[in-house]
Amino acid sequence: MKTLVFGSVNIDHVYRLSHLVREGETISSDEYRKNEGGKGTNQAVALAKAGLEVWFAGAIGKDGQFMKDYLTSFGVNTDDLRTLDAPTGHAIIQVDEEGRNSIILYGGANRMITPEMIGETLSHFAAGDYVLLQNEISGGEEIIRQAAGRGMHVALNPSPVSEELLSWPLELVEWLILNEIEGADITGLTDTEAMLDELLRRYPNCRVVLTLGEMGSVYADGQRRVRQGIMPVDAVDTTAAGDTFTGYFLQTVLAGGSVENALRTAAQAASIAVSRPGAGRSIPLKDEVRSALRAEARK
Ligand code: RIB
Repeated sequence: MKTLVFGSVNIDHVYRLSHLVREGETISSDEYRKNEGGKGTNQAVALAKAGLEVWFAGAIGKDGQFMKDYLTSFGVNTDDLRTLDAPTGHAIIQVDEEGRNSIILYGGANRMITPEMIGETLSHFAAGDYVLLQNEISGGEEIIRQAAGRGMHVALNPSPVSEELLSWPLELVEWLILNEIEGADITGLTDTEAMLDELLRRYPNCRVVLTLGEMGSVYADGQRRVRQGIMPVDAVDTTAAGDTFTGYFLQTVLAGGSVENALRTAAQAASIAVSRPGAGRSIPLKDEVRSALRAEARK
């Protein structure tokens, strides 16, 4: 069984600020970093750091070759990462003193993925393989249709939600991993129980994992709901917390772990990630997550 992340590659330009810029305001930052990012890249790195063998498909420009090296350095297979005649995608990220962020995305090469590229990539995978995608590249609907048509398992982190995503065939998705804002955008509901009820009414075969910020996370399927709290930590940078959670949750269940274990492991990994700066580089390795879980169990 192979696991493919079909997703974005972004160069993150990160500015630390006393507060997020308000409308009409100009402020200066005294800390700037250029980081490796993109939800697809971060989730592939999280899966790899968690111990899974990962294939990555997507697109970069000539300016993004270092992103390919970065993915490869974690053992991620990049044979299906194409170099196109376009700039690599980038993100302008503000991070405030509480670690909260605000992000502007420029898609670049991420938005130039065509149905032909999708078909060519998926021809390297077979029934029973997994594909994980987000919504930072073009062709998301096509990836879901083609992957499901091949008998692949589809996991979706519908982030960021767009108008277009609302018409994607989510009934073909097996794992839906989303936060409460995305859940509200998809269902039109804000109460989390009602949101889960509505998602399962629309997509009864789906297994839903809803993250609730400081309120933890909840897993829901047609039979049961499982809740998990957070491991509190002083937040330095929340960028990629959701990507860390998604990667660790999926790796744990794909390795045969229980949903309870997957939620706990993902919460612990995300808690470590928010305690340090950066996107993919803030994601902990499996051994660090394991020892933090052991320490947590002794409390
Ligand atoms: O989820 C965090 C990511 O969102 C950042 O790395 C940035 O690239 C944006 O895609």
